[in-house]
Amino acid sequence: MKVEHAEQATDTRDKRAVREFWQAASCGERLYLETAERAGYMRQAEERYRLEPFIADFARFEASRGLRVLEIGVGLGADHQRFAEAGARLTGIDLTERAVEHTRRRLSLFELSSNLSVGDAEALDFPDASFDVVYSWGVLHHSPDTPRAIDEVRRVLKPGGIARIMIYHTWSMIGFMLWVRYALLRLRPWTSMRTLYARHLESPGTKAYSIAEARWLMRRFESVRIRTVLTHGDLLSSDAGQRHRGPALTMARALWPRRLIQTMLPRAGLFMLIEARK
Ligand SMILES: C[S@@+](CC[C@H](N)C(=O)[O-])C[C@H]1O[C@@H](n2cnc3c(N)ncnc32)[C@H](O)[C@@H]1O
Repeated sequence: MKVEHAEQATDTRDKRAVREFWQAASCGERLYLETAERAGYMRQAEERYRLEPFIADFARFEASRGLRVLEIGVGLGADHQRFAEAGARLTGIDLTERAVEHTRRRLSLFELSSNLSVGDAEALDFPDASFDVVYSWGVLHHSPDTPRAIDEVRRVLKPGGIARIMIYHTWSMIGFMLWVRYALLRLRPWTSMRTLYARHLESPGTKAYSIAEARWLMRRFESVRIRTVLTHGDLLSSDAGQRHRGPALTMARALWPRRLIQTMLPRAGLFMLIEARK
């Protein structure tokens, strides 16, 4: 199979560490999925779109009817379900079997279908110009060679096709919290943001980008629109993630100046939403 051939080229030690991390639990599984049944997936989706209301606006699920859509990094499959419900001609991949199994199960519980498989964003097993839309939410910054993954997204898009990608933004409140917790309080304030994201946010080697860096990543696309949004993590208005707990965080939650951040730093959010046309 072509994927096996591709994996030989891209399955590095770093990639294996990413796979191991997400194979232990898919994104949001521990926090938001009580049971892998219809009700559990419905509750997880409710919570997801309550906490991240901007997803639907960005993903444009309803506008995908009849379009060939590839989702890279399906995770628990909530967005994939929305594309399927909207009537997209749907394909989905994830680096982990766990995520593919969740998404397959989820779709079958709701009597929906998609062409799902384990696959690698850095070596997509699809011919050039296969899709009208490639969608990927919170995935490509986890893959060790993000520029290669972006080039793959462009390759499999048809001319005029649209990429909708969310990757992390360096200059975010979450980045600031990581700096306070793992640099300032350890008396190493010079620690780079790159190191902080790589060591302390989700899977090992996670990256974040400035807007200028994201423009560079997307430089081969015809038109590119980028915006950043404050997340529930930046505003400490929910559980911050799978890896962070403790009394200091509980205290920060009580004292966090949410209004001030929303007014003075509306762009200091972790999520960078990129829409680009090939
Ligand atoms: C933070 S989760 C996001 C999942 C989902 N998109 C969501 O928003 O809940 C990251 C996902 O990306 C997948 N992933 C990481 N690197 C990948 C790669 N190179 N190719 C495909 N999927 C990858 C992981 O297995 C994991 O399921």
